Amino acid sequence: MLELGGGTHMARALIVYYSVYGNTEKAAKAVRDGLASAGLEAECKKIKDTKPDDLKAFDAIIFGTPTDMEDIPDDVGKFMESLKRVDLRGKQGAAFDTHYEDEPVGGLKVLEKYLKTLRFCSFDFFAHEFLTC
Ligand SMILES: Cc1cc2nc3c(=O)[nH]c(=O)nc-3n(C[C@H](O)[C@H](O)[C@H](O)COP(=O)(O)O)c2cc1C
Repeated sequence: MLELGGGTHMARALIVYYSVYGNTEKAAKAVRDGLASAGLEAECKKIKDTKPDDLKAFDAIIFGTPTDMEDIPDDVGKFMESLKRVDLRGKQGAAFDTHYEDEPVGGLKVLEKYLKTLRFCSFDFFAHEFLTC
């Protein structure tokens, strides 16, 4: 049990991700399993199945994206833009990407900017363990 927002309840985490070839989906499921084994109620959802307001029900939101041309895919960008009208202040936020280059030069950096804009109370970025080729 974690204490969040002044009350004690089972913290709920959402891993919301975009994946074309399956790498980011595998990473999202690994993140979900890790959080679940740490005692959180964690679930994965594809961005295309997620409405901005769906995020309100969670204490922590983890975003996953592939790097695409050193950027995020358009659909991920549209989703992140759509979150600007939802009040996510006070929630925990984190992000990861998958990519083939040695240095994460694209997707993660773009997500980092969005998380700052959305004023999550904290965020971490973990990418290197999900290198793909
Ligand atoms: C069209 C395209 C562009 C890509 N551009 C980059 C890139 O600029 N940098 C990089 O590191 N990886 C790049 N990649 C590799 C993907 O980020 C990597 O394979 C990722 O894991 C794919 O995610 P997915 O399997 O969830 O769709 C690109 C892949 C594709 C198909």
